[in-house]
Amino acid sequence: MPLSGKKILMTGGAGFIGTTLARRLVEENEIVILDNLHRDSLTGTDLAQHTNLRFVQGDVLDLALLRELSERATHVIHMAAIAGVDKVLESRVRTMRVNLIGTYNVLEAAHEAGTIERLVDFSTSEVFGTHAYKVEETHVTSQGSVGEARWTYAVSKLAGEYLAHSYFDEFGLPAVSVRPFNVYGPGQVGSGAIHHFTVRALAGEQLVIHGDGSQIRAWCYVDDIVEALLKILDRDEAVGEVFNIGNPRSVVTVFDLAARIKRLAGSDSEIVFKPLHYTDVEMRIPNVDKARKLLEWEPRVDLDDGLARTIGWYRERRPVQSLASQA
Ligand SMILES: NC(=O)c1ccc[n+]([C@@H]2O[C@H](COP(=O)([O-])OP(=O)(O)OC[C@H]3O[C@@H](n4cnc5c(N)ncnc54)[C@H](O)[C@@H]3O)[C@@H](O)[C@H]2O)c1
Repeated sequence: MPLSGKKILMTGGAGFIGTTLARRLVEENEIVILDNLHRDSLTGTDLAQHTNLRFVQGDVLDLALLRELSERATHVIHMAAIAGVDKVLESRVRTMRVNLIGTYNVLEAAHEAGTIERLVDFSTSEVFGTHAYKVEETHVTSQGSVGEARWTYAVSKLAGEYLAHSYFDEFGLPAVSVRPFNVYGPGQVGSGAIHHFTVRALAGEQLVIHGDGSQIRAWCYVDDIVEALLKILDRDEAVGEVFNIGNPRSVVTVFDLAARIKRLAGSDSEIVFKPLHYTDVEMRIPNVDKARKLLEWEPRVDLDDGLARTIGWYRERRPVQSLASQA
């Protein structure tokens, strides 16, 4: 049963996954989005005008504001984060502050509110490190060496998971952590290989691969993760758990991904290679049996279908040229 009649606080709700999820919840629930618009998939959309949605521009580092917004909430979905390798490398201190202290603030405010039926904490598949083949939730996490900038994100998110789990264990806060594996689809702004390749393919500009393109990823269409989240919000079995959410069938190399997008978009763009200036994840494929079993969830959208829908969305959205310059 989808949620109804609930008061849902979504941090980072103006982002890609947040706006897609909010569209599924907004008719039947009251939604408050807290976002500082570091990224923005919300402004100018129908969702932003919806009478059941209130947007508050603010920061998860503001504990007083979080306390105020959590006061009457029944559900908290914590998505606000600095994500994407480029943004993380831009400022590791900001990444740690937002992802770690921000998560602490969200948990503390939710705990104090005492009205929370479910809190969903967004972690990441990066917690599995450079080689992750059919990884299960119980497998050992790996963060590389201290000082390797890229792992700042994974460490901050893993600490958030530990925090969320501790609030569940010690205070009974009904928290759940989710580890998304490479989510893509309509509405994604500012980051991710599929966003980059698609906007540049449509604009006829070079598709830039960092490294030799042999990195392997499993791609999860955004509607599939949203289905999993709807179940996590509703089902008691999810409480206190962590879930891998991804699509183990949609696995390709980064070069194959660029070539597919080029073909599906009917583009003449050239694929070029540039050196990598950070440690990369060589392989990342989830095992999602736990979500299958506990949530009765299954990823349904296969890669070419998802890519075609995504390309269609970007094609309708003009001007692609200005997006391509930032991608
Ligand atoms: N998209 C993926 O493939 C993927 C993979 C793994 C994990 N995740 C996690 O899922 C969550 C949602 O991802 P997304 O793809 O929608 O990312 P996104 O960047 O589109 O959304 C994140 C939102 O957080 C907001 N934000 C950033 N700093 C903030 C702050 N200090 N205060 C308030 N808001 C702030 C941004 O403005 C943005 O709207 C994030 O926590 C991300 O780390 C995403």
